[in-house]
Amino acid sequence: MVTSMTSPAASSDREKVVSKLPGWLRQSLKVRAAQHGIEIQTAVEQSIRDWCNLASATASVDTSGADSFSTFLPPGQWESFRQIAADRRVSLIQGLAQSIQLWLDSNPAPDVSRPEITRRIIVCNQKGGVGKTAITAGLGEALAEDSNSLYPVRVAKALTKALRDSEVQDEGMELDTNPLDVENLPGPGQQVLLVDFDPQCHLTNQLGATPLPMNGDSLTNHMAGDPKGDLRDLIVSIDDETFGGRLHLLPACNDAFLLDVRLSAVRAREAALERALAPLESDYDVIIVDCPPSLGLSMDAAAYYGRRRDREKPGESGALIVVQAEDSSADAYELLTTQIDDLRGDLQVDIDYLGIVVNLYDSRRGYIATSSLQGWVDIKDPRVVGLIGDLKEQKEAVRVKKPLLSYAPKSQQSVGMRALAREVL
Ligand SMILES: Nc1ncnc2c1ncn2[C@@H]1O[C@H](COP(=O)(O)OP(=O)(O)OP(=O)(O)O)[C@@H](O)[C@H]1O
Ligand SMILES: [Mg+2]
Repeated sequence: MVTSMTSPAASSDREKVVSKLPGWLRQSLKVRAAQHGIEIQTAVEQSIRDWCNLASATASVDTSGADSFSTFLPPGQWESFRQIAADRRVSLIQGLAQSIQLWLDSNPAPDVSRPEITRRIIVCNQKGGVGKTAITAGLGEALAEDSNSLYPVRVAKALTKALRDSEVQDEGMELDTNPLDVENLPGPGQQVLLVDFDPQCHLTNQLGATPLPMNGDSLTNHMAGDPKGDLRDLIVSIDDETFGGRLHLLPACNDAFLLDVRLSAVRAREAALERALAPLESDYDVIIVDCPPSLGLSMDAAAYYGRRRDREKPGESGALIVVQAEDSSADAYELLTTQIDDLRGDLQVDIDYLGIVVNLYDSRRGYIATSSLQGWVDIKDPRVVGLIGDLKEQKEAVRVKKPLLSYAPKSQQSVGMRALAREVL
C-alpha cells in the first residue's frame, strides 16, 4: 500500500510519503547518508530524481521482505515518480529500490581521512587515579570504530547544556543524555596504537592483554637503546570483532619502573620515546600514549614525542590533560603545565595542548562539581574537550577486561568518548 498525504508542520514544504523498502537497503541508505552528512530525505529525493532522469529502469533489485518506509519529499515529486514507474512497468516499491540502489552506486562511501603525519596524543596528569588510562582506552576505541557503521555520539550541545545548567547551579541537573543530543554517526575508522607507558600496566590489564615478561623485549629496552628485536612483534590487536583489526596495543612491562634510571645514561633522552616509536608510525593514523602518574624523565620523553613537527598543523598532536571535576585537581594541573612549559622553553619546541578532559563528573555532588567544572572551562586555553560522567560501565568494563565501547557501546560513557574523539580529531 502506497499512500501520500500532506506533511505535518515539522517539514513544512515537503510531503510525507509512505512506501516500502527491504531492511538491508534501508540500512545502507541510513549509513551512506550519514557518511555524506546529508539527511535521508535528501538522499531519497536525489535517488528518485536521478532514476526518473534515466532513459529506462535499471536492473531489478530484490525487494523481498520489504517493510514500511516513510520519508518527506518535495511536493509533486512522488506523483511524477509514480507516473514514470507506471510507464516503465515497475511497481513503486521496485522503482524506489532501484532509485536508492542507483544513488548508493553513484555515491560510494567516502575514503577515511588519514593524517599525513601520524598524530601523537599524550594523555597525562601526574595526579593518580583521575582517569588517564580510562580516557586513553575510550578515546582509542572511539577513533577505531568502523567507518561503515553508525554509532550513537553525544553532540556538542550536551556539554554546553551541562555548563549552562552549572551556571544556574541547578542541582537537579542530570548529565543523562537526552535523546535529542545524540546523533548516529559513522566511526572514524582510524588505525590506532595505544601505548601503555605506565609500569603499573593498567591499560594492558584493562584491555585483557598480558604485560610483557621482565626478561624479554620491551619499550623500555628500545628507549634505552638496547632493543632485543622488532618493537612490532610486541604489539597485540584488541577485540578484532568490534574494531576490525584497527585497534592495537603496545603492552607495558614492569621494567618501565627502571625507565628513568636507564634513561639517565641515554644521549638526547627526551627523544627516546620518539626514536623507539618512529619505526611504527607508518602503520598508524593515531598513537595514544597513556602516561604514568609522575613527572620524571619519562614524562619529558612523552611530552617531547607529542611536540608539533615541521609541516604539522597546530593542535594535531600534543598533550591531552585529564582532570577530575573537583578543586584538588587544580594544583596538579599547575605543576603539569609548568613542566610542559619548561620543556617547551628548554628544548625550543612547540608542545600543543589538545584540551582538558573533565572526568568522573557527577552533577549530584551539586555545587562542588558544577563550580569546579566551570573553573576548568574558564581556563579557556586549553579548552574543555570532553566531559565524562562517573558511571558504573567504566568500572564494569575494567572488571571484565573488555574495551568499554564493545562492552557497553550504547552507554552514556561510550557516547561521551565518541564525542571526545570527534573533538580532538
Ligand atoms: N568516568 C569514570 N567513571 C567511573 N569510573 C571511572 C571513570 N574513569 C575512571 N574510572 C575508574 O577510576 C579508577 C582510576 O582510573 P584510571 O586508572 O583510568 O586513572 P589513571 O589516571 O590512569 O590512574 P593512574 O594515575 O594510576 O594511572 C579506575 O578504577 C577506573 O576504572
Ligand atoms: Mg593510568
